[in-house]
Amino acid sequence: MSETRFSEAQIEAGRLLFARPFTFVKGCVSIADLPDPDRLEIAFAGRSNVGKSSLINALTGTTGLARTSNTPGRTQELNIFESMYAPLRIVDMPGYGYAKAPEKKVAQWTQLIHRYLTGRPNLRRVYVLIDGRHGPNANDVTVMNELDRAAVSYQIVVTKADKPTKADLEKALEKTRAAIAKRPAAHPELILTSSEKGTGIETLRSEIEQLLGQ
Ligand code: GTP
Ligand code: MG
Repeated sequence: MSETRFSEAQIEAGRLLFARPFTFVKGCVSIADLPDPDRLEIAFAGRSNVGKSSLINALTGTTGLARTSNTPGRTQELNIFESMYAPLRIVDMPGYGYAKAPEKKVAQWTQLIHRYLTGRPNLRRVYVLIDGRHGPNANDVTVMNELDRAAVSYQIVVTKADKPTKADLEKALEKTRAAIAKRPAAHPELILTSSEKGTGIETLRSEIEQLLGQ
């Protein structure tokens, strides 16, 4: 499994970072609404319903911090979370590729996502979430292309690892590995997660803590 391995000390540092509360600051419908780029930012991107908001809740250990739903299209703004205890901002993004919302809405979200991902100076890393049942689709590839072009560092987080059979998960992982091979801005390792079971959350916390330390 190509999961990142960390030392005990690094795991503990990651745990400590998220042991203190993160709180909701605001939802931004445009780039102009964003807070000043005064601290390191990480963003969670991915298609609608892939589990972005659930992952933020698992990461921060706070049920209901980011609103989740079974219906794709729950998150409609760039939702900002901050901690008083760490110079880190977390951004929960609207999902991309959601075709059932009104066309105008989809176009607005797509533009907001594009502008944010390619033009935010303090955006240190994007976590691109890929569904563990399916692997990447055309929209995921488009976003990775944009991030590569803009030289914005990103790492793939495979979600809902508890859902597929072992064989289906392995297939999705193979497809995902193939999709990021030779991509200049992609972190070479995937993080396999389940927000439901807590799988991979420790690793993700340590990964983020390392970004702050760098
Ligand atoms: P949008 O905001 O609509 O783009 O969706 P999102 O990517 O934020 O997804 P969200 O976190 O709202 O989760 C969508 C659905 O997937 C919810 O019903 C979650 O309970 C479910 N879900 C998320 N993560 C997991 C997981 O690890 N395992 C399982 N089994 N279900 C999950
Ligand atoms: Mg959401």
